[in-house]
Amino acid sequence: MKVRKPVIDYSEVPLYWSENHEFAQRWNAGSFIPAYIEPFLVKVLHEAKPLLDASNKKLANEVDIFIKQEMEHCKNHVKFNRRFWSFGYDELRPMEAAFAKDYDDWMKTKSLRFRLAYCEGFEAMSAISVTAIFEESDEFFAKADQNVVDLWKWHLAEEYEHRTVMYDVFHQLYYKNPVSGYFWRIYGLFYAMVHMGGFSARMTKVLLDKDRSTMTPEQRAQSFANEKRSKKALARPALKHLLEILSPFYNPAKRRPPRGVEAYLGESFERVAVKAVPVPA
Ligand SMILES: [Fe+2]
Ligand SMILES: [Fe+2]
Repeated sequence: MKVRKPVIDYSEVPLYWSENHEFAQRWNAGSFIPAYIEPFLVKVLHEAKPLLDASNKKLANEVDIFIKQEMEHCKNHVKFNRRFWSFGYDELRPMEAAFAKDYDDWMKTKSLRFRLAYCEGFEAMSAISVTAIFEESDEFFAKADQNVVDLWKWHLAEEYEHRTVMYDVFHQLYYKNPVSGYFWRIYGLFYAMVHMGGFSARMTKVLLDKDRSTMTPEQRAQSFANEKRSKKALARPALKHLLEILSPFYNPAKRRPPRGVEAYLGESFERVAVKAVPVPA
């Protein structure tokens, strides 16, 4: 695990950065999630860190890298979202504000156990997105804007890389009784699925409904067909991962890397980091 700081330019990114516009809009909506949950993960870990076993230096070091990785993810999604707002869609603003407020409220009202379980639910669920982006999205990325492809590939490859950290923190603090530990982990998972899945589905629906409002019947039919294809990319890996996560023997350390993840963090990442650095005249 290490901290990477890609230099990605979002200033010219088109709204429909994939030829499948419905795929682009689904992930445009999805980009609002990390802008808010990732600062929340960081705050929760800052609170949990002093409670961890001080002799476990490995976990303490991983928590520090995890925090820095999530902060870089968040910064990039905020930049991307700023570009997204230049295309309008102001009807999403109240939904975004309500989502942000949930996390602010939870810092005051929810127990650390609940918040860590929710965060681990999010980290576990990200396995579905990692597999979807690396193994199910080639057709959507074929002629896509490389900046946005890099945003999601870099982010999700690091989600794979740091997949054990939140689990290990939750496990160390709240798994002394395995029955209640399991209950809370699964409760956090379902809470995260409903909370974030619902938010992302509502945002996507507003975007697609607006886009379709000016379409001809033929264009609308094509739009629904595109949406179906883009949803399948997420649905295909979902069941397999959910079954693994629901198991009482779930161990993210054993999760195999989706195709291309490790290569992306190696050679491909060097390309991302270097390409936007200005060449001296
Ligand atoms: Fe992240
Ligand atoms: Fe993460």
